[in-house]
Amino acid sequence: MSGLIPQSFIEDLLTRVDIIEIIDSRTPIKRAGKNYSGLCPFHNEKTPSFSVSPDKQVYHCFGCGAGGNAISFLMDYESLEFTEVIEQLASQAGLVVPREGQRDDQKTKQRATIYELLQKVDDYYQEQLRNHNEAEAAKQYLKDRGLSGKLAKQYGLGFAPPGWQNLLHRFPDEEQRKMLQQCGLLVDKEDGGRYDRFRHRITFPIRDQRGRVIAFGGRVMGDDKPKYINSPESPVFHKSQELYGLYEARKANRDLKRIIVVEGYMDVIMLAQHGFTEAVATLGTAINTAHLERVFRNCSEVIFCFDGDRAGKAAAWRALEAVTPVMTDGRRARFLMLPEGEDPDSLVQKDGPDRFAQRLEQAQPLSDYLFQQLTQNIDMNGLDGRAQLAAEARPLIQRFPRGVFYQLMVDKLAESTGMNKQDMAAYLNTGKKNDAGRQLQQQSPQRGSASRPANAKPISAAPVNKGFRQHQLPSLDSATMLLLHSPSLAKVAPDLSDMDLDNNPELALLIELIARFKQEPQLNIGVLMSHWQGTPKGARVVQLASRQTLLEEEQFEPEFLGAIQRLRENEGESRFKALSQRPLKSLSPEEKVELREWLARRS
Ligand code: UTP
Ligand code: MN
Repeated sequence: MSGLIPQSFIEDLLTRVDIIEIIDSRTPIKRAGKNYSGLCPFHNEKTPSFSVSPDKQVYHCFGCGAGGNAISFLMDYESLEFTEVIEQLASQAGLVVPREGQRDDQKTKQRATIYELLQKVDDYYQEQLRNHNEAEAAKQYLKDRGLSGKLAKQYGLGFAPPGWQNLLHRFPDEEQRKMLQQCGLLVDKEDGGRYDRFRHRITFPIRDQRGRVIAFGGRVMGDDKPKYINSPESPVFHKSQELYGLYEARKANRDLKRIIVVEGYMDVIMLAQHGFTEAVATLGTAINTAHLERVFRNCSEVIFCFDGDRAGKAAAWRALEAVTPVMTDGRRARFLMLPEGEDPDSLVQKDGPDRFAQRLEQAQPLSDYLFQQLTQNIDMNGLDGRAQLAAEARPLIQRFPRGVFYQLMVDKLAESTGMNKQDMAAYLNTGKKNDAGRQLQQQSPQRGSASRPANAKPISAAPVNKGFRQHQLPSLDSATMLLLHSPSLAKVAPDLSDMDLDNNPELALLIELIARFKQEPQLNIGVLMSHWQGTPKGARVVQLASRQTLLEEEQFEPEFLGAIQRLRENEGESRFKALSQRPLKSLSPEEKVELREWLARRS
């Protein structure tokens, strides 16, 4: 073993095997038009909803959502590991699986050097906290805040001494200085000189999930501003993906049951000191869906624990929006809003661990929190109020992946509005969804769709529910699907890098696919799926790649460009909708201005 299996080999292997043969020899499938279909081997059913595409070499079950390529089929059907499947397929094809050896790719090497260097900086700061003659005040400050020496050590707290050139002198080597500049620890001056970014501050090393130091936070020891500064983005530090304290949390808990998301460094550390070793914080940014995917890769429950002030409430609502797309079955999210004026750091010291644990126990489930926030300004006694609730809840509930949780939300919304469950389910499947478009997963395969009149909407979805109007596939799904059918479209795709990716993993995926296909037009979809096996990305690629389109080849490009155009138009619209649907109280002053301007422009 050892070494990665090269992508080119997996690609080669996938071109040699035939998914129809592999599946048909294990569970019977029959030709049905372009595709094959049969009873799904992954769930119990009486009518076939399992479909296999010989063109795309993928399968998809419209009943249970299972899907993938030949590799994932064997993994699931035979309960094999990825590498076992590769070995098996390779030996059937008479091939030996190559492994990428210690090919010393320069980038990896450079990153390794940066990690080493950052570790040296960390050692230096920690040593300064112990020995520098001005560190006494820093230690006293930490003591006054109630922090124990043990925890300070565990979280690697250090001291950047006063002065502009401490690090600079410590690392006289030009190569090292260049790297320190890349990581933002040294700052370039206009005259060509450099100076230390962190001066006279307590330092907090930020570690990645594997424990490597990738950045620092630094706090003043009083009331000066800014209170905290952080390393800027660098080759090894991407703020919007990292979680402070995750490494320490994993280290302290062999089996993480839950993760508590708080706002600050000191909250994380002080909670750990009181036995709550599973807290993490974002790095001065709002929590996003990528963060939460990472959280859920480590455990099945997240508790958001925010201050009771306005900023805390806004953060909580943002967290709610960010968590909805990743609420798959078995996952749980709850909210604990603290009394005004308290943060977890202050409260756990005041409360003690038992009382704080009790608060955590009583944290509000996501569904309660959502409904509470939505209804707080609505009079639920009247018909109007209930209609308003349904309208406001719909776009949020549509963000949830289909599953048990989604169903519970549908039922709850039905109950609160007095609508019956079937009508509610249908109602949630309609409405302009611009980019959300997750209803795909509920739709059945489009058999017989060829009989649709020629002037029908080109990419059509199966009717969701009798009596409800059919609608076009949302632009984002449409663009992504077309790209998967015809990767060369990447060449004509306009630049989308300015679009707001926060909390929109599906848009991020489209952009990533465009970039990858641009670079590698021959990239095999099966390879992508193998890489993304078991992730939301993988699921989405399968889902969209296995859809059929009634479009002719030559219609692909105009439709693709049109979908992207609509996507852009919708962006402004959906941002406005998201803002207008949040409780006014939770909006920041900037967001209120934005909303007002929007309304002014539209009237
Ligand atoms: P808070 O101001 O709530 O931090 O900011 P805190 O942890 O309670 O600070 P203490 O208790 O006064 O030490 C929360 C987080 O926001 C980021 C930091 O990551 C901080 O932990 N922040 C805050 C900054 O990046 N810069 C700032 O000036 C303030
Ligand atoms: Mn605090």
